[in-house]
Amino acid sequence: MAAGFFISKTVGIVAIVLGVGAVATIIALSVVYAQEKNKGTDTGNTETTTTATTTTATTTTTPDPNLPWNRWRLPTNLMPELYEVTLQPFLKPNANNMYIFTGNSSVVFVCKEPTNLILIHSNKLNYTMQGSFMASLEAVNGSSAPHITKTWLVPLTQYLVVQLDGELQQNHHYRLSSSFTGELADDLAGFYRSEYVDSGETKVVATTQMQAADARKAFPCFDEPAMKANFSVTLIHPSDHSAISNMPIKSDSQLVINNENWTVTKFQTTPKMSTYLLAFIVSQFNYTANMSDDVLIRIWGRPKAIAENQGDYALRVTGPILKFFEDHYNTSYPLPKSDQVGLPDFNAGAMENWGLVTYRENSLLYDNNFSSIGNKERVVTVIAHELAHQWFGNLVTLKWWNDLWLNEGFASYVEYLGADRAEPSWEIKDLMVLNEVYTVMATDALATSHPLSFPEEEINTPAQISEVFDSIAYSKGASVLRMLSDFLTEDIFKAGLQSYLHTFSYGNTVYKDLWDHLQMAVTQKNVSLPKSISDIMDTWILQMGFPVVTVNTLTGSITQKHFLLDPNSVVDRPSTFNYTWIVPITWMTNMTTAAAGDRYWLTKKSDTNDTFKVGGNNWLLLNLNVSGYFRVNYNQENWDNLLAQLSSNHRSIPVINRAQIIDDAFNLARAKYVNVTLALATTKFLSQETEYMPWEAALNNLQYFQLMFDRSEVFGVMTKYIKKQVTPLFNHYKDVTDNWVNITQDLMDQYNEINAISTACSYGITECQDLAIKYFNEWNTTNTNPIPPNLRSAIYCSIVATGGEEAWDFIWKKFKEATVVSEADKLRTALSCSPQPWILNRYLQYTLDPTKIRKQDATATINSIASNVVGQPLAWDFIRSNWKKLFSQYGGGSFSFSRLILAVTQRFSSEFELQQLEQFKADNQDVGFGSGTRALEQALERTRANINWVKENQGTVLAWFQEQTMAPAA
Ligand SMILES: *[C@@H]1O[C@H](CO)[C@@H](O)[C@H](O)[C@H]1NC(C)=O
Ligand SMILES: *[C@@H]1O[C@H](CO)[C@@H](O)[C@H](O)[C@H]1NC(C)=O
Ligand SMILES: *[C@@H]1O[C@H](CO)[C@@H](O)[C@H](O)[C@H]1NC(C)=O
Ligand SMILES: [Zn+2]
Repeated sequence: MAAGFFISKTVGIVAIVLGVGAVATIIALSVVYAQEKNKGTDTGNTETTTTATTTTATTTTTPDPNLPWNRWRLPTNLMPELYEVTLQPFLKPNANNMYIFTGNSSVVFVCKEPTNLILIHSNKLNYTMQGSFMASLEAVNGSSAPHITKTWLVPLTQYLVVQLDGELQQNHHYRLSSSFTGELADDLAGFYRSEYVDSGETKVVATTQMQAADARKAFPCFDEPAMKANFSVTLIHPSDHSAISNMPIKSDSQLVINNENWTVTKFQTTPKMSTYLLAFIVSQFNYTANMSDDVLIRIWGRPKAIAENQGDYALRVTGPILKFFEDHYNTSYPLPKSDQVGLPDFNAGAMENWGLVTYRENSLLYDNNFSSIGNKERVVTVIAHELAHQWFGNLVTLKWWNDLWLNEGFASYVEYLGADRAEPSWEIKDLMVLNEVYTVMATDALATSHPLSFPEEEINTPAQISEVFDSIAYSKGASVLRMLSDFLTEDIFKAGLQSYLHTFSYGNTVYKDLWDHLQMAVTQKNVSLPKSISDIMDTWILQMGFPVVTVNTLTGSITQKHFLLDPNSVVDRPSTFNYTWIVPITWMTNMTTAAAGDRYWLTKKSDTNDTFKVGGNNWLLLNLNVSGYFRVNYNQENWDNLLAQLSSNHRSIPVINRAQIIDDAFNLARAKYVNVTLALATTKFLSQETEYMPWEAALNNLQYFQLMFDRSEVFGVMTKYIKKQVTPLFNHYKDVTDNWVNITQDLMDQYNEINAISTACSYGITECQDLAIKYFNEWNTTNTNPIPPNLRSAIYCSIVATGGEEAWDFIWKKFKEATVVSEADKLRTALSCSPQPWILNRYLQYTLDPTKIRKQDATATINSIASNVVGQPLAWDFIRSNWKKLFSQYGGGSFSFSRLILAVTQRFSSEFELQQLEQFKADNQDVGFGSGTRALEQALERTRANINWVKENQGTVLAWFQEQTMAPAA
């Protein structure tokens, strides 16, 4: 899926609004709203509800694990070859007020080892009896099949079990057939229902999300990724709707049932593929189309959205991206057509179903008049991510979910290459450092992190499968592959990749297979590496975390150590490499720029290298462009020299490394490698800086200070300092945009303008807040929105924060009226910027009412309320008192769940809050935490670290900000 789930590319906007409260006290209100870029979330799998029930079931019964139907993995004695599936969704409720679909399907399979038992996945389907049984069996090619003696369902492991009176014979083919009914629920999983309103009329869409383990909810199937087969899908649907699936339509015909007109649409048989990549949609959507070579490209959405040209941008970039990947993989696009559909209700960011990619509307549709540059970047990167999977993932598929990191990490890496082809002026590849590397290091620096690769036997249940779709899989996977590609060179990486894809097309692999093919390319081209690819990469794949590399420029000594954000945390996960990595290191000094090929390999805990002995006033900088997945620390002298360079002429240091110095220093300070004052000092040059990456790194890190201190006296002086630093940037953009009218050219320039506005408005720069009020008044009187799309998130937040109930109601009304989803998202997020507890509490209640806030947006809305300093305790109370309900009804979307826990607890930094969190864990043991289980452990770890950090640093930080903001002596 689209990293989406994960989450997590945020154009981090830090909004803190100083407003005048009802009692005329000045309250500091901090809102951090990360634009909901749940990219990592393309995980869309939504089995948490099932998990809830199964967890309880396991505690009451103890199924005998020796019985094959109590094991989570399928036996390998039967292999499917061809499914013929016919489904008929009813888009109106039945007499019991339930939406259902009916179906019949058959699967031809070959017997590899004789057996008298057939296990096939089936979840929440009711079967029509054929005689006394739920299925029928026949031999293919004339021979005879044993008779069925018994059929039954095992809800826990989601099997239909068929017991036979004799054995199936080796290498014989059989066909198992059944008829069934399922619910077309609004649960975003399997074959499900999405709704939208068009000209006052509610329209129903029947659509699918099979990944990871929900194809079994649509029809009985061998629902594991290695059980590849061909699929012939037929949909019976109302004649005024159209049907699409992975393959083009083969034929359609009319049918009258109970005086209603139905169309029977048959699709061409798919190539061999995994069940999780199947998709079919019945809707009244419209599309816009073109041809790219021989491939038909269509972008589908609500007819209104298509009529407003919201599909045009996606259409424009899809052709070039497909061509890019054909070239990159040296393999033609494997299917005759590529459909991409924006759905009103969708759990993940997007899902790479083969030939029929599904998206959240905000990840596919783009509107020139409403969407920001961030929305545009999201569309092009998510499309590139999903199209990358059409080969890597779909044509060649990992054998089991334990290797998911390679599938998702790879797509999360090459999405930047594909997007770069579509938008070459954006320099989007540089953004990986902020969006993937630094984002995931925050999680991977915890003792509760985990290695990228899991042993196959550790991942079994649907909940365990769902949990592997996390930011480690997506962003760390992308980061280490980027590092690998950097030290191999992109050309050699491509050569190995191409031979891997050619070898394993239509088959399944384990991650080692990719290493083998890269190694062949290395051998062929005579590249010199200190060890084999497998040996190097195992140190990054099989152990969690990453190193901090420390250099002393006086002695040339260089060492590495497992970097832990909380130095007191205890690592109880053993590592065969003893937490030592094989680290590829690039460098430069103020005297030399190292030649591109220069690379020093740190292969042990410590070493010395005279190249790094620069001494005097010279400085050394390691990890150019942060191509390596590690942090860097120096002796104090070198830090001082780097800081001096930043303050005299910061441009002598490459822009990505200016961001690196800030991000490394802040994180080293958190982990007590350096003083907090050193970290703060890296922000001093920002008053001269106009580039996005260093600013973004600083704002992200200062956000931690804001979270820790926005309820303390530190926040007053911190606000003063930030105002002082951001004022030149605010004025710079006011100038270059001619008073916020013109749009700057570059992507990152536009992002930094957004940073300038959101920081200025939220930290209370009057001129910025006045600008917001001016916009609001104009909008209110003319009823035409005058705010440039890029500035809307920041300005809407300021309007809600300073405008009271009237402004909230106004924005709420605009939210309900919005027809462009990216606009609705901005308004919805801004509604959490209110400083009024009663308004925020009411808004929290709205998140449990799907008529007010769509289910897919519920957790994101709670998260944004929790980011507000006033909303945070309210959101925490809300979650504690509604946990059961949230868990059972909103638990879908593995990602959203763990993010919910991390978001509401992000300010926790007192003993009292720690106790509350522990109490919460104890109180809800019986309900469980599903896909949020690991997140809860991480929250506990983070809270303990925060407590210590605040205790140790509050005084120093207060003094530093005071010193920086003192009026100069008269
Ligand atoms: C399946 O059967 C159960 C038990 O009779 C019933 O509650 C459920 O509504 C049925 N589902 C459908 C889709 O008919
Ligand atoms: C079904 O289709 C026929 C022929 O196209 C048409 O005359 C009839 O009105 C349709 N019936 C309904 C219920 O829409
Ligand atoms: C669908 O798009 C076509 C072509 O743009 C247009 O002619 C048609 O009116 C649209 N249909 C609907 C229902 O909007
Ligand atoms: Zn993906």
